[in-house]
Amino acid sequence: MSDPCSFSSFTRCLTKHLNLLLRVDFDTHVIRGKVELTVEALEDRFSVLTLDTRDLSILSVSVNQQPARFALGAKHSFKGTPLDITLPTHLSRGQHVVVEVTYETSPSASALQWLTPEQTAGKEQPYLFSQCQAHHCRSMIPCQDSPSIKHTYYAQVSVPKDLVAVMSAVRDGQVVDPQDSSRIIYRFRQPVPIPSYLIAIVVGALESRQIGPRSRVWSEKEFVDKAAFEFSETETMLKTAEDLAGPYVWGQYDILVLPPSFPYGGMENPCLTFATPTLLAGDKSLSNVIAHEISHSWTGNLVTNKTWEHFWLNEGHTVYLESMIGRSMHGEPFRQFKAMGGWKDLQDSVNTFGASNRLTNLVPDLQDVDPDDAFSSVPYEKGFALLYHLEELMGGPEVFMGFVKSYIQLFAYSSVTTEDWKNYLFTYFKDKVEVLAQVDWNAWMFTPGMPPVKPQYDTTLADACIALSQKWLKAKDQDLCSFTQSDMKTLSSHQVIEFLSLLLQEDPLPLTHVKKMQEVYNLNTCTNSEIRFRWLKLCVRSKWEEAVPLALKMATEQGRMKFTRPLFREVFHFQKYRDESLRVFAAHRAAMHPVTSGLVAKDLKVDSSSATGL
Ligand code: BES
Ligand code: ZN
Repeated sequence: MSDPCSFSSFTRCLTKHLNLLLRVDFDTHVIRGKVELTVEALEDRFSVLTLDTRDLSILSVSVNQQPARFALGAKHSFKGTPLDITLPTHLSRGQHVVVEVTYETSPSASALQWLTPEQTAGKEQPYLFSQCQAHHCRSMIPCQDSPSIKHTYYAQVSVPKDLVAVMSAVRDGQVVDPQDSSRIIYRFRQPVPIPSYLIAIVVGALESRQIGPRSRVWSEKEFVDKAAFEFSETETMLKTAEDLAGPYVWGQYDILVLPPSFPYGGMENPCLTFATPTLLAGDKSLSNVIAHEISHSWTGNLVTNKTWEHFWLNEGHTVYLESMIGRSMHGEPFRQFKAMGGWKDLQDSVNTFGASNRLTNLVPDLQDVDPDDAFSSVPYEKGFALLYHLEELMGGPEVFMGFVKSYIQLFAYSSVTTEDWKNYLFTYFKDKVEVLAQVDWNAWMFTPGMPPVKPQYDTTLADACIALSQKWLKAKDQDLCSFTQSDMKTLSSHQVIEFLSLLLQEDPLPLTHVKKMQEVYNLNTCTNSEIRFRWLKLCVRSKWEEAVPLALKMATEQGRMKFTRPLFREVFHFQKYRDESLRVFAAHRAAMHPVTSGLVAKDLKVDSSSATGL
C-alpha cells in the first residue's frame, strides 16, 4: 500500500513534527524557509529519506546538525520532484532524526497566490495566501506530502511590520524580527497532529473581530463587520456539531475571509477556516459552507483519508455531518430538501465527466491522475448518497449518526482507507450484517456513473420549486404573461436555487422565456452567488447574448472554481462567443490563482505552456 500522489513512503518513516522558520518576501514573491522535520524510522537500516518538493530551490540540508548529502530527482508533472536525503548513519526502527532543510519557494508555487495591492480591497498592501489541499504543500515546504502522515507543527513567520500573518494553528505571540526591525515575527503552534495539506498561511493587512467565545473573523478591514454579521451563527453550529460528533479538540475556531480569487467556497484549515468572500452577500442561506467546514473538524481533520483515492471519506462524511447540523437547526424536511439538491449536483458532475468515466467512481484509481483534475461533486454527493442509503437501511438518522460518532472516536488522530471504514461499519452493525451484505458495494464504490440506488427524498420544500419550474418548462409564448414577480415571493433562497437547478437539468429554455424571467424576477440584480451562478448559466445556455458579459464578469471578478470554471465553459460552448471567452481568459489569466488558471486553460483547451509566455 502506498500513496500514488507522493514520492515519500509512509511505510518506511513518519514525520512527527515540523518546526518552520519562514521569511515572506513580497518583492520577489518568494518564501525563504528553514524547516526542521523530526522523522521516525519505521524499519531497520533506514538510510535515505525522500521528501516531496515542487519547484523549490534547496539551499542546504543537515541531519542532526551535520551537513548531509541530498539530491533532487526528475520532475514529475504534478507530483513534483523527490528530494533524497542521505542520512549519515543508518537508523533502526523507532529511532528519530532531525532533518533541517533550507530552501526557497518559486514565485509560481502552486500552493501560493501573491496579490498586488491593486488586487486587494484596501489597495495599499500586498497579500499572500496558501491553498495546500490536495498536493500543493510540497511547493511551500519540503515534506512528506501525504495525508497518511500526521504531525504537529510550530512556525515563526517574518513579515513586513504593516502586515499580519495568520496560520492554521493557535496564535502564540509576536516579536520584532531581531534581524530586521522593519519586520515582525508571528508565532504559531499546532499541538494536534495534522496532515501536511492542512498547513496554511495568510499574510495581509488583516483585522479581526470576536464573534464567539472561541471564534474571531479575520479579513481586510473593509469586510470585518460584514463578516462578523454573516458568520454570527458560528458558535451555535459548533455546539450543534459537538452534540453530534463529540468534543471540538482544536481550541479556537476562527474564520478568515479571503480575497475574491480564493478558489474554493471554504477550506477547513484547522483553527482557521478559510472562506470565499462570495459568502458575504447578506444572505445567511450561504452559511452552509461554514457548517461544512466546521464538520471537517471531525471528518477530515481528526479522521483523515489515507490517500486522495479515499477522499470521499473526508467529503462524504462531512456533507453528512453538515446535513445533520442543518437538521438540528432547520428540521428534517430541510435536510431532505438539501439532499435532493446534492443529488442534482452529482448528476451534473456525472454528465460533465461522462457516465463511464472512472473518475466518477466513489473510490477512483488515482495512479497517474492529478487530484485537481479528479475533483468534482462525486466524492461529496455519491458519498453522501451512500451514507444516506445506509442510514435508511440501518434504522434512521439517530442510529446512523451513532455509527458516525463511533467511527470518529475510533479513528481520531489517524488516517483511514475505505476498507477500514467498511470493516468498522460491519463491526458496529454486527447484528445487521445480512442487510449490509445486500448492498451492492462494488456498484457504489468501483463503478462509474450514478449510484445503483436513488434515495427517495421528501419533497415538502421542493414541491413549490418543482411546480414553478414545470410551469416555465411547459409555457408557450402566449402563456408568459401569467408569470409575475409574486411567483418568487414565498420562495426562500434555497428554493430559488432548487428552481434554477431544476431548469438547468432540462433542455435550454427559449430565449423569450429567459428574457421574461428577467423582466418578472429581475435575477440580474441578485447578489447571492449560488443563485446568480445558476441564473447566468441558464441565460447563456439559452443563448442570451446580453448575459455573456455578466457571466464573464462573474467568472473573473471572483475566482471560486465551482463558479468560474462552469461559467467559462458555458460561454465557450456558445459558439458565437467562444473567442470572447478565450480573450477574457487570456486577459485575466496572470491575475488568477495558479490552480484555477491551469484548470480553466484545460477546460478551454488552451495550451498551458504557450499561455505563460514562456
Ligand atoms: N476541503 C474542501 C475544499 C477542497 C477540496 C480544496 C479539495 C482542495 C481540494 C472544502 O471543505 C469544501 O468542500 N468546500 C466546498 C464547500 C461546500 C461543499 C459547502 C466548496 O469549496 O464549495
Ligand atoms: Zn469539504
